[in-house]
Formats: sequence, C-alpha cells, structure tokens
Amino acid sequence: MYDVAARKIQLWNAAMSADPDLYEVAARVSTIPDTATAVLRFANSAYIGAVYPVGTVLEAVIRVGSRSVGALAMASLNRDLVDTWGAPELWEASLVVGRAAKLIGRLLGFGRSENEHLFVAGLFSCAGSAGLLMKDEGYLDWRRRQWMKGASDAQMLERERMVYGSNHVEMATGLLREWNLPDAIVRAVAAHHSPHEDTEKALWAAMMVLPVDSPSRCLDLPFKNAMRALGLEEHREFVETEARLFADVTVDAFTAEPALRAVGEA
Ligand SMILES: [Fe+2]
Repeated sequence: MYDVAARKIQLWNAAMSADPDLYEVAARVSTIPDTATAVLRFANSAYIGAVYPVGTVLEAVIRVGSRSVGALAMASLNRDLVDTWGAPELWEASLVVGRAAKLIGRLLGFGRSENEHLFVAGLFSCAGSAGLLMKDEGYLDWRRRQWMKGASDAQMLERERMVYGSNHVEMATGLLREWNLPDAIVRAVAAHHSPHEDTEKALWAAMMVLPVDSPSRCLDLPFKNAMRALGLEEHREFVETEARLFADVTVDAFTAEPALRAVGEA
C-alpha cells in the first residue's frame, strides 16, 4: 500500500498547488488505476452536469478541475486505509464527513486551501475508528458501553488508550504525520473532540452529520445543535443532502461496474 499511498499523496500535492499543471496532474492520475477510473467516471457523471462523454484522463482532469482530482485521490487513499484496517464499511461515512467539513468551511467563509484541508481532515477523522476495529472487532460495542456509562470525550479517549494502547485520534494523526500532510490537517483531526479554532469547530460539527447509529460517529450531539453552535442552522439540510450526494457519486465512481460489462451480463 505504501508505494500507492505515496503516489496518491504526490498527486494530491500536485493537484492542490496554487497553479496546478493539468498535464502533470493527468500524468500522475494515469499511474494510479483506481483513481484514473474514478476520475473518468466522475467526469462523465450527471453530478457535474456531463452532457457529452470524455474518454481520456487529461480531458477528464480538465473537466472536473484539479481540486476535484485531488479530492478523489485522497478519497481513494482513505478507502485503501479502511480496507487495510479491515473496516471497508467506514469509507462512505468518511466521504460524507469530509464533504460536510468542506461545505461548512465554505459557509463560514474560509479560503479554498483551508476548505481542502478540512475535506482531508474529515476523511481521516473517521478512519481512526477503523484502526481500533482492526485491533478489536468488538470495539464499537465497547465504545457504546462507555457512552452508556456517561464517559466524557476526554475519558473516552483515555480509556481507548488504556485498553488498546492508542486511541482513534492518535491512530489517525500518527498516520497523517507519517504521510507528511499539512499541519493544519493534523491539528484539526487532533482537536475534533475538543475544538478551539474555527476550522477545528467546522470539522467537529461535520462529524455530527452522520446518523447517530453510524459506526464512524464518535461524537454525540444532534447535527442541528452543532450547526446552531456555528450559526449555520439554516444550512443544515443543504449540508446533509449535498454531503450524502457527494459520497454516493464518489462510491459509484470507484465501485460501479463498467456499463458495457453490466449490459453483457444481463
Ligand atoms: Fe473521534
């Protein structure tokens, strides 16, 4: 996974630069099969209003824009990670939270780069739970029992450390540091149970967009209350709907069978 992870992170860096070279971005996409397929499918989806099909990676990159390509690269990295940690079911929730964090950042008036950082932070905040599930498949039940006993966020993280040797925040931030991702991302993930800065609060609120029974949900407050705390209550439905739609389209871009094969099997 490490060689592929490095290529996806390099692609993200190239795609997120202030003045991205789309030829370079397309060349990097072409070396990563799952991302290349997803970029093509994404470029041809109704989600971005595709009217006529594009057939090459370069055309697809030009159509969707480098930032969306970077987002797909990180989405695929996140998928690799939760797969490796044995909890592929957490991937979709990560996409929902990542997209919600970016939208909340936009609504709060943050800049593009801060919002892209929030997207990645949202993706990987959930992934730490996959790390603990790899250590103990009963982790989610264990966590539920701690909540029922009234454990606070801080107590919960401390208990995870005592029981598993690490908590889900440390598992995620350790990996993000190992990958040399920007400090702003690591800090937001590190603070998602005790946010102080506005960007940290945006991520904190985004985590609540998940249904209360979602295995990825590690914070316990209704989403509407979290949005109200940020003065964004009127945007709650928009964020929920758009985040789920983005996750659906992204999952589809990575997992849908090619249309021709589906026809052939019918
Ligand atoms: Fe958490």
